[in-house]
Amino acid sequence: MAKIVNVDEVIPGMAPAANVYDRRGRFLIGKDVPLTSRHIRILKAWGVMEVSVDIPENESVDALPDIEDKYLAPAEQYMKRKFAGTDLDYAPVAELFRLCVRRKATALKSGTESESRMAREFEIPAGASVFPNQKEKLRNLLSDPVLNNIDLPSLPTIFHRLTNVINNPRSSSKDVADIVSLDTGLSARVLRIVNSAFYGFASKIDNISRAVILMGAKQITALALGVQIVNTFKNIPGELINMESFWKHSVSCGIAARTLARCKNMPNSERMFIGGLLHDIGRLIIYNFAPIYGREAIATARRKEIFLNDAERCVLGVRHTEIGRSLLKRWKLPVSIEHLVAYHHTPMSAQTPMEPALICIADIIVNAIESGSSGEKLVHSVNPNTWDLTGLSPGVFPAVIKQIDRQLAEIIRFFFHD
Ligand SMILES: [Fe+2]
Ligand SMILES: [Fe+2]
Repeated sequence: MAKIVNVDEVIPGMAPAANVYDRRGRFLIGKDVPLTSRHIRILKAWGVMEVSVDIPENESVDALPDIEDKYLAPAEQYMKRKFAGTDLDYAPVAELFRLCVRRKATALKSGTESESRMAREFEIPAGASVFPNQKEKLRNLLSDPVLNNIDLPSLPTIFHRLTNVINNPRSSSKDVADIVSLDTGLSARVLRIVNSAFYGFASKIDNISRAVILMGAKQITALALGVQIVNTFKNIPGELINMESFWKHSVSCGIAARTLARCKNMPNSERMFIGGLLHDIGRLIIYNFAPIYGREAIATARRKEIFLNDAERCVLGVRHTEIGRSLLKRWKLPVSIEHLVAYHHTPMSAQTPMEPALICIADIIVNAIESGSSGEKLVHSVNPNTWDLTGLSPGVFPAVIKQIDRQLAEIIRFFFHD
């Protein structure tokens, strides 16, 4: 049975179930070659975090301890409400549900979760009255190109220089290194993230040029752009939802999307991290620039027990995906990132659905384990077409959840604290 394990858990003698490539798609180790300690060092040196290995059926790397029924029963009841919009008979959903019930039961047992907090989760917040003419006004305000009239926090010049570089096929690695290195605050933050356990490089990367060599110019540019956007938006007041929780959700989705991309040996896993980081940025705009509507959308979703996404459409006439897309267009971010944001709830409508599909699955996992929140309380269903397209197996969930648990606090710290 093939299982995705963290490089730290690889035992010499295990064999990869598929060829192993580095983050830029360079071949490292062939399928079925028994791994030695030297191989494991090579994997770490090139920043490979997970590897798919063959494990005999009777050897489990994540055997779970027993949990008493008094914790499992309320956890299951709670999760059934969260998963109400899904098909629990569908294998990937059933596995995610099982993992979430165990996780919640474990939290109840350890005291980090309580039944009273769980009971408050589905409370309906007070909504606001929205009159039809206001709705029309808002639709105009939010529609592109009128979005240009919203007084967004301005992004620094370096942001625009980076987008020029990423959109110009003739720009070189040196251009990227020169621009990022010019801003000491930005390069320090990027280097701290690159040197975090999230990337797992064996030796310290102490300058941007080296980071560009190891990770690729586009990857570093995407990371630098993500850092800039979070930096610009992190201090705007969160009237409706807890901003820390919003960014926790976003960073978790980035970690999950990147882990899924790595499992698929996709070379552009960094773009997936940025896609996850920005996927719900349209909600940030709603909550901060149209809070009355944001509150009403959240209240409508809870009252009618529908997805927040659909409630946004009822209340605002537009979904956060469309607002996010307009915003990214206005910022001239690469179309590939714009598509990840635009199609993360409807990947099969995208021209190239694979990458938005991974963001979609990442978002579902993050909502299910409740790692932060962007306002949605329900878990979206896994569309069988989307799941089949990704070629993932339900065995990937524990590896993704483990990466979120391991890396979230560190990445949040690097983004938000100096
Ligand atoms: Fe979303
Ligand atoms: Fe989300």
